[in-house]
Amino acid sequence: MMDTNVRPENMNRITTPALAEAFIAEQVAALRAQIGDKKVLLALSGGVDSSVVAALLIKAVGQQLVSVHVNHGLLRKNEAEQVIEVFRNQMNANLVYVDATDRFLNLLAGVSSPEQKRKIIGAEFIRVFEEEARKLEGIEFLAQGTIYPDILESDGVKAHHNVGGLPEDMQFELVEPLKLLYKDEVRVVGEALGLPHGMVYRQPFPGPGLGVRCLGAIDRPRLEALREADAILREEFDKNGLAEKVWQYFIAIPDVKSVGVKDGKRYEGWPAIIRAVNTLDAMSATIEEIPYALLHHITERITHEVPGINRVLYDLTPKPIGTIEWE
Ligand code: XMP
Repeated sequence: MMDTNVRPENMNRITTPALAEAFIAEQVAALRAQIGDKKVLLALSGGVDSSVVAALLIKAVGQQLVSVHVNHGLLRKNEAEQVIEVFRNQMNANLVYVDATDRFLNLLAGVSSPEQKRKIIGAEFIRVFEEEARKLEGIEFLAQGTIYPDILESDGVKAHHNVGGLPEDMQFELVEPLKLLYKDEVRVVGEALGLPHGMVYRQPFPGPGLGVRCLGAIDRPRLEALREADAILREEFDKNGLAEKVWQYFIAIPDVKSVGVKDGKRYEGWPAIIRAVNTLDAMSATIEEIPYALLHHITERITHEVPGINRVLYDLTPKPIGTIEWE
């Protein structure tokens, strides 16, 4: 039998809207044949892969797709809002939105080990998703945003946001329409499906989200400062043509305060660390040479607009020796 997890040698690389349309037509027919009149469940993170799977399934089976968007409280500014706007309001998706911020942040309180933080976030994500799945009736399929590199690099099960750990009694038949596609092809397909350019071409964002950038034990005021500073950095990168050029850029905030001065008074605050790297495969990375004038402008904005931050630093460390993320 043919191994359905191996990309056929003669499969065309999807590089144009016309090729994407052909792929979409073929997949829509295959998905309708596989799913029939049954229901499909999807954990929709808002990342590229799950968003494209959602758009494809909405086209194929409409309201039979139930998408669950879990907000773990560690998303970037406006991310959950964008998922709701695009999928519920524009695509008329059957979307369940769960704001589980308090659950996650309560469990994470006082936890400073990066690995422990990741484990807590991953396990709680599955728990929340499972609870939502149990409330639904008649689900027979689970859709996942598995792409070809996931199959090549591992056993096909992605990090926590692709739901690899549901309990025994909740094993659904898998629907993985993107599993033979490379990332660049997924993006071309996403645009052909009408997803916003910014959603389809967005930079990588780790499953544990801002959780691994609010360094050490997460506390809400510092997490909020991180979210605001990150939004300013992204806005400035967008405005200045760096968003499409730089592979990944973000802020990390350590659990350290320094003394500063504001309005003539002593002002203790956290430093916001900017990281902006280029890479091909995330195995090694180089530092983007951001123009100094822009660094000064971003520093000015973050220190004036974000409560709690009184310094901005630029991380010049390549990978190796630093990893891309700080934890
Ligand atoms: P590092 O920090 O190892 O990161 O140089 C390499 C790439 O992987 C992303 N990353 C993660 N993605 N869960 C994810 O889904 C994680 O726990 C995680 N940690 C790092 C990182 O953002 C970078 O793109």
